[in-house]
Amino acid sequence: MVAARITVNGKETPISPAAPHTTVLDFLRERGLTGTKEGCAEGECGACSVLVARPGVHRPTDWVAVNACLVPVAALDGQEVVTSEGLATADASGTPAVLHPVQEEMAVRGGSQCGYCTPGFICSMASEYYRPDRCAHAGPADGSGDSDGSDGSDGSEHGPNGFDLHALSGNLCRCTGYRPIRDAAFAVGMPAEDDPLARRREQSAPPPVATRYTQDDSAFLRPGSLADAVRLLRERPEAVVVAGSTDWGVEVNIRSRRAGCVVAVDRLPELRTLHTGSDHIEIGAAQTLTEIERRLDGAVPLLAELFPQFASRLIRNSATLGGNLGTGSPIGDSPPVLLALEATLVLADADGEREVPLSDYFTGYRQSVRRPGELIRAVRVPLPLSPVTAFHKIAKRRFDDISSVAVAFALDIEDGTVRKARIGLGGVAATPVRALATEAALEGRPWTAQTAEAAARVLRTEGTPMDDHRASAGYRSAMLGQSLLKLYARTTEAVSS
Ligand code: FES
Ligand code: FES
Repeated sequence: MVAARITVNGKETPISPAAPHTTVLDFLRERGLTGTKEGCAEGECGACSVLVARPGVHRPTDWVAVNACLVPVAALDGQEVVTSEGLATADASGTPAVLHPVQEEMAVRGGSQCGYCTPGFICSMASEYYRPDRCAHAGPADGSGDSDGSDGSDGSEHGPNGFDLHALSGNLCRCTGYRPIRDAAFAVGMPAEDDPLARRREQSAPPPVATRYTQDDSAFLRPGSLADAVRLLRERPEAVVVAGSTDWGVEVNIRSRRAGCVVAVDRLPELRTLHTGSDHIEIGAAQTLTEIERRLDGAVPLLAELFPQFASRLIRNSATLGGNLGTGSPIGDSPPVLLALEATLVLADADGEREVPLSDYFTGYRQSVRRPGELIRAVRVPLPLSPVTAFHKIAKRRFDDISSVAVAFALDIEDGTVRKARIGLGGVAATPVRALATEAALEGRPWTAQTAEAAARVLRTEGTPMDDHRASAGYRSAMLGQSLLKLYARTTEAVSS
């Protein structure tokens, strides 16, 4: 097996002697690339953002911005990374001499004061700069940055150059103020024909590399196939399974957790499927949320409503549905939506596969029916979809925050009567739950204000919400009821307008 190595700003570098848990951020900084900064070390500030070459949605390669503080460098064995230092064009001596267009715009529009956040903003901006379909979403030419034709209810905001401000939702700045940064984002043009990173998009992204990276008594392993992965997990049931590492990276950095064996499953081809059949859509558990969002392109409206509210673009570029379900968190944002969609999970181990309804999957706080050595291979969403859907996330910040309560609705309303209601809840019990009593209170009843108010009273009693630092139990219950009333108001507004 070839020694683990990573290409950084065009230069191949051995990963050894970094420890298997060493993050990309620490690896880069230890090699003098100190433009990449540590702010929070838990995926919430974007100071550590770098670009990674990944298989593209519309071209062979996309330049994808990720949080370098969360990803183990061993996970990028054989991959290509570009940092803020690598974006400028170097002179003959290798010294950056000509600023990259996003660096230039940030400089001339005053987008940087202390500069700590700036390299991270630059990398997130560069990722959006190179997004192939950027101009398809252009806003008005006056630069006001209105929405792309949607109602903007998801907070979408595109510049006249098609720049989607969501690309920066994972980057925080404490001193500049966001207006000059937005001005810079909306001023960048399209990449020049001879732009090396734009041209790089036309070549295939580096394929995944089967990795066996060990130091002392710990190992980072990337099996090459599902069969290898499940065999490995049967041998090492104690192994920590990671995909985007957005959860495990926090455990490593903030709680100093270490694992004897980490197994990466994010590039397994069997977990990267996405296809639509006659009676369901199958989404590979290791598709990133950004990939699902772009590949489905609104085909599942409830998922389309979820994605902009799920953390930040930087997190969505790495996070997967398999990871969000695998951690079993009661406040993950995808389970309420997938419960409302009546999704099932395909679980795989060395003995084969089985399909489990998501409503039967969670058994207790961070517990599930998934057996040791079993992987979530895919999520299946049954068809046809219910036509009336909504996802309401109640959180202190609009983006990049953890839910106090999350509610997802999927209703079939025919001739003014609720024929079917599916409601998923997060943040009100030890596990994500279906609001079964409320569903019963809706089904078979006319979709009227009286029904909505009666069902909202039932919804306020669902689950066992707790008081904690995010919200009180009373607030959580009240928000459940309001959520249904909001859905009713929205559907009746649509009918009367
Ligand atoms: Fe804050 Fe990585 S250091 S997101
Ligand atoms: Fe100081 Fe952004 S320029 S934090």
